[in-house]
Amino acid sequence: MKKTHALVVGNWKLNPITLKEASDLAAGVARKNKKITDAYVAVAPPFPYLSEVGKKISKTPTSLAAQDVYHKNMGAHTGEVSVLQLKDLGVEFVIIGHSERRAMGENDEDVAQKVAMVLKHKLTPIVCIGESKRDDKGDFFNFVQKQIRSLAKTLKPAQMKRVVLAYEPIWAIGTGKTATAEDVKEMQLFIESVLTKIYDRATARNVRLLYGGSVKPHNATELHQDGGMNGFLVGGASLKAEDFTAIINATI
Ligand code: PGA
Repeated sequence: MKKTHALVVGNWKLNPITLKEASDLAAGVARKNKKITDAYVAVAPPFPYLSEVGKKISKTPTSLAAQDVYHKNMGAHTGEVSVLQLKDLGVEFVIIGHSERRAMGENDEDVAQKVAMVLKHKLTPIVCIGESKRDDKGDFFNFVQKQIRSLAKTLKPAQMKRVVLAYEPIWAIGTGKTATAEDVKEMQLFIESVLTKIYDRATARNVRLLYGGSVKPHNATELHQDGGMNGFLVGGASLKAEDFTAIINATI
């Protein structure tokens, strides 16, 4: 993936509630973006819709993403989904460690195990990081640094280069409170400096960074142009093909 092109991923979360709606949404995204060449696009539907959505976007530039994965491949693990199963359905990206999953108990160790499994099978992990609140002393920077360090502990530079890091401040997710472009830019520079300290400059520059948290058509242009990241992870606004496409176009 060329870093000069943004990656825009739609995280549908637990939506929509019928296969028909999921199929229509995927068809809409595929249709509106069938000629896209200057951005990478992916949609992450709930597991039960992956197969159908995969069919709707096949032979189009839109890629398939999953919202989570288990760290083992097969066996007695009721309720889990493995990377091999995702790969078989044509999934290319896997969101890992979303704050909504971390809130359910997923920890940094779980995230690291999942990332290792996804990388092993040559899919691209999109690892979510971000603080729950901001404070005047800047402790949120330490929090983000801790999350990156814990991920980096198990990854060699060549592996880290294949990771997409999505900075999603929890206070901005689904709240309509977006981080300002200035906040995003500051965080981009901070994450790169942390990666440079842990690895080196070349590795840091290779890691693709996304911003997520109330990205909408009206704020996407500014966030993209001044925020310095390489794309977006979009929740609510990815549920309307038109809004999602407007966000994609804002990065071109
Ligand atoms: P939001 O969600 O765009 O609805 O804030 C983003 C996310 O959680 O990935």
